[in-house]
Amino acid sequence: MSCIEVSRLSKSYGSISAVNKIELSVESGQVFGFLGPNGAGKSTTIKLLTTLIPPTSGSMCILGIDAVNNPLQIRHKIGVVLQQPSYEPTLSVEKSLDKYGMMWNVPKIERKKRLEQLLVDFDLKEIRKKRNEDLSIGQRRRVQVAREFMHDMELLFLDEPTVGLDPNARRNLLDYLKNKVKTGLTIFYTTHILSEAEYLCDKIAIIDKGKIITVDTPDGLKSKFGNEKTIKIHLNEERKEIISFLSNIEDCKIDFDNGTNIIIHSEKSEYILLQILKILNDEGIEIEDLSAVPTNLEDIFLKMVRENASDN
Ligand SMILES: Nc1ncnc2c1ncn2[C@@H]1O[C@H](COP(=O)(O)OP(=O)(O)OP(=O)(O)O)[C@@H](O)[C@H]1O
Ligand SMILES: [Mg+2]
Repeated sequence: MSCIEVSRLSKSYGSISAVNKIELSVESGQVFGFLGPNGAGKSTTIKLLTTLIPPTSGSMCILGIDAVNNPLQIRHKIGVVLQQPSYEPTLSVEKSLDKYGMMWNVPKIERKKRLEQLLVDFDLKEIRKKRNEDLSIGQRRRVQVAREFMHDMELLFLDEPTVGLDPNARRNLLDYLKNKVKTGLTIFYTTHILSEAEYLCDKIAIIDKGKIITVDTPDGLKSKFGNEKTIKIHLNEERKEIISFLSNIEDCKIDFDNGTNIIIHSEKSEYILLQILKILNDEGIEIEDLSAVPTNLEDIFLKMVRENASDN
């Protein structure tokens, strides 16, 4: 079943097209990753889908409801954690969770139960009495995400929830979300960290300059670029002259960062590698380190965003 259907959705601020005629289809019970560089339009899309701002044009159907014309009907069925920190400075962690539950009309006994569980799940037990203003940035973010789970919802929007979290807290949150999805929750998740999207998401849309460049599964994205490998060569010493030798090789893209590191992207990596090794050998250039790895999603992302920039 479809949970979010969006057609030609746009939001402009004066001459800026923050979101430009995007099409989206998100299935229930999935994590949909929304990826893009700074200023791509991720947060604007979340504010549109959660009805916090009205679109300039286009249509959106959220949980079967026409969200453009019935914004208030949507809001009590969804959860949202925005990118900006939001907290009451003098409230303690446990009070802020409880107060949030009250806002959502969660009965007292149920609130208590959920609160205790969330303190455990988000590793907040030790700081439960601390005031929000005294928390570290990562702790505060954890409280902000945790409190959203005080209430029931069918659909949750998370705008870069892991910013400021350490690797352990980050992984805990991703695993927590994965478990929630197993119980039927649908999640719309923005990030610019590809490895996170790969770990968590069923589908990934890449957005840049307000436009969606591609939508696919993590595996689909990789298989589109599946044959491409990244070859990295580290030389013992700087030998800038090899740039001119190597630039004659066809079917590959070569980057030199400082004359000692050579990075080559190619779909014919074995063949290219043999040619390079021959040139280096003929020139008496020694290699300190060499690796050839499949191009990862991070590279695909950078490549797509760069190509998009050169198209415009
Ligand atoms: N209220 C506003 N008024 C004017 N311009 C805005 C407003 N909100 C967003 N923009 C512009 O719209 C574009 C998209 O911004 P948005 O916040 O959606 O990007 P983002 O993908 O969330 O970026 P980040 O990764 O930095 O959070 C940017 O160029 C931004 O400056
Ligand atoms: Mg943002």
